[in-house]
Amino acid sequence: MSDLTFNKVAAAVLATGLAIVGLRELSSGIFASKAPEKPGYAIEVAAEAGAGGGEAADVPPDWGTVLPAADVKAGEAVFAKCKSCHNADNGGANGTGPNLWGVEGRKPGSHPGFAYSSGMTDFGGKQAVWDYDHLYEFIKAPQKYINGTKMTFVGLKKPEDRINVIAYLHAQGGTLPIPAPKPAAAAAPAAGAAAPAA
Ligand code: HEC
Repeated sequence: MSDLTFNKVAAAVLATGLAIVGLRELSSGIFASKAPEKPGYAIEVAAEAGAGGGEAADVPPDWGTVLPAADVKAGEAVFAKCKSCHNADNGGANGTGPNLWGVEGRKPGSHPGFAYSSGMTDFGGKQAVWDYDHLYEFIKAPQKYINGTKMTFVGLKKPEDRINVIAYLHAQGGTLPIPAPKPAAAAAPAAGAAAPAA
């Protein structure tokens, strides 16, 4: 190999190396900015942690603690995602989905004039009224929770979105009372993020 050829090869190797390093830098820059956010509400975890099961399960919170502290305005903003199919006005018409005025405390699948799926009607046969726990699970992933429902909505991933929209619906004619806070949850030291406002 002549010196010249050697130099060319060396230059090519060097250039390739630089290109790889450059790509790495670039892609790490791109992907680093997509680092997952920390989920908001962590209170349920604190309450459940002692009961075994190390993972942060997405279980319904203590409603007596979180509802009085929930952000109804934020819940109304979340409800914008529901509005293409629902309204929550007193006496409002059914749309693609049933009117949701007073849905909290109402029997599932029972609003007059709406043609529910058999999945929803069956659910109403097992579950007397829409309570907070069942709403929380349903709006998280409707079609996973109620087999055959015709609510073709992907669901609300974030627990705080669900809590806030449930607080908003509570204000829209909900007849279900807000329970008293559970003593254990109220006393939990990590309840700071959702400490009751009143
Ligand atoms: C793409 C349309 C659509 C969207 C968006 C949608 N829903 Fe629905 N929803 C429906 C339909 C349709 C039903 C009736 C389901 C059935 O009969 O299986 C329903 C049923 C419900 C019920 C049960 C009502 C009853 O009378 O038993 C609740 C509660 C509900 N939706 C809440 C919500 C909330 C909260 C949102 C927003 C976070 C939302 N929905 C978004 C279409 C939608």
